[in-house]
Amino acid sequence: MYLISSREMLKRAQKGGYAVPAFNIHNLETVQVVVETAAEMRSPVILAGTPGTYGYAGVDYIVAICKEAAHKHKMPLVLHLDHHEEFADIQAKVAAGIRSVMIDGSHYPFEENIDIVSKVVDYCGRHDVSVEAELGRLGGQEDDLIVDSADAALTDPAAAAEFVKRTGIDTLAVAIGSAHGLYKGEPKLDFDRLAAIREVVDIPLVLHGASGIPDAMVRRCIELGVCKVNVATELKIAFADAVKGYFGEHPDANDPRKYIIPGKAAMKEVVEAKIRMCGSEGKA
Ligand code: 13P
Repeated sequence: MYLISSREMLKRAQKGGYAVPAFNIHNLETVQVVVETAAEMRSPVILAGTPGTYGYAGVDYIVAICKEAAHKHKMPLVLHLDHHEEFADIQAKVAAGIRSVMIDGSHYPFEENIDIVSKVVDYCGRHDVSVEAELGRLGGQEDDLIVDSADAALTDPAAAAEFVKRTGIDTLAVAIGSAHGLYKGEPKLDFDRLAAIREVVDIPLVLHGASGIPDAMVRRCIELGVCKVNVATELKIAFADAVKGYFGEHPDANDPRKYIIPGKAAMKEVVEAKIRMCGSEGKA
């Protein structure tokens, strides 16, 4: 089995009125949890890695682990580049076998964002690789990517229509009030803006920063055209808290095969809940 682009998977989700969850992974164990759970629930799934993750674990290791997981569970998988910014880095990772890319030019002015995204779309089009890009800018922190709330900007629907048309991207990440990391109070999502974007953009939309957003709000986003839902922080917290709890009870523990197990179990519960939230169970 193999690594595929997210193009057809997300088009199917768009037609079916559900979203595919994209879970950030970091190592063997996190890939195992996501893929085992998705296979049990027969859910399509996207495994996402930030530049920090590929740097930490090594691109070839991550690709090999994901290919093995696809083979073991007999399901094609999407391994995705989350928030990548460098063209040469994307080229190298596509050459290593990755078929799904987010080129994040959201920090550039509109025309420069279009230029860099178009260059990546042109390259990826020749390698059967799907491309996601972001217009507007999410606040919060995702690994080394830190955006102050003052620099965050919501997606303008008319600009989004022009952006999609001129770049030829497969999916658009929208900024409608979500943020990377957890929220201080209840997040405020601009559903009217999302509906206005949907009116003028017909490709699948992507919701970043889904950790901490109540299920009902995410479901509303899915009704309004979101087909990919990104979750990272909640998985990390569940995993880390369970491992901390284990050490609390077993202060002398030192066997990773033991102290990692509760982390995986806690992360699995979050993955299950997010698959249900996305409505993707049984859609693989
Ligand atoms: P959270 O960490 O807020 O879930 O965001 C994940 C994300 O959007 C990855 O791109």
